[in-house]
Amino acid sequence: MKALQVLSVLLLTAAAADAQSIHRGNCPRPSVQEDFNITKYMGTWYEVEKLPAMFERGTCNQAMYSLLPDGTVSVRNSELLSNRKMNSVEGVAKVKNSSQPAILGVSFFKGVSDGPYWVLSTDYLSYSLVYSCSDYFGLFHIDFAWILARTRALPEDLINQLHDKLSAAGVDVNLLTVSNQTGCDVMS
Ligand SMILES: *[C@@H]1O[C@H](CO)[C@@H](O)[C@H](O)[C@H]1NC(C)=O
Ligand SMILES: *[C@@H]1O[C@H](CO)[C@@H](O)[C@H](O)[C@H]1NC(C)=O
Ligand SMILES: *[C@@H]1O[C@H](CO)[C@@H](O)[C@H](O)[C@H]1NC(C)=O
Repeated sequence: MKALQVLSVLLLTAAAADAQSIHRGNCPRPSVQEDFNITKYMGTWYEVEKLPAMFERGTCNQAMYSLLPDGTVSVRNSELLSNRKMNSVEGVAKVKNSSQPAILGVSFFKGVSDGPYWVLSTDYLSYSLVYSCSDYFGLFHIDFAWILARTRALPEDLINQLHDKLSAAGVDVNLLTVSNQTGCDVMS
């Protein structure tokens, strides 16, 4: 296929899947968490809000991160499907440039290029703001964002502060959806 055909197919499929996350031009370059300490970031994070992501279907979405001896991070994303079965996917995250430790790449399938995982802001103990954006041909970009927390819910005033930070990073917070974190006892 010619480049333009590829482009239009990509645009159509992506637009059909998730029209709200496509934007003109290149990705913004938001600032990330200063002095990011990956050790403190390990453990379980629950998804509180997200920019719609087509590959997530279930409820009770959560991520488990653990540091491997080689300094990379083992990633296990889990969710509960509508049939009450648990679905998990495993991947690896790594810091690509040690001078930018809050910018990671996450890969879930061998041979597939990794996706960006930018920690915009975290206090390690309660919340994390994660941003992911990919450029396509310098013409448009597709972005994802997550509010993660150490608990399945966050106080509203903290959510509001996090929305302000996401806005400053160029994310349209009106497009965020609240993740369903009820009925998750079986996940424990
Ligand atoms: C990162 O956090 C760990 C665990 O709290 C701590 O032991 C380590 O000293 C921290 N690293 C830096 C560079 O601050
Ligand atoms: C790592 O980041 C620094 C600071 O942004 C940059 O100067 C350097 O070129 C980067 N190194 C690589 C290999 O990309
Ligand atoms: C969240 O999920 C639970 C259990 O799957 C379901 O009963 C409930 O209706 C859902 N809530 C919303 C707001 O979709």
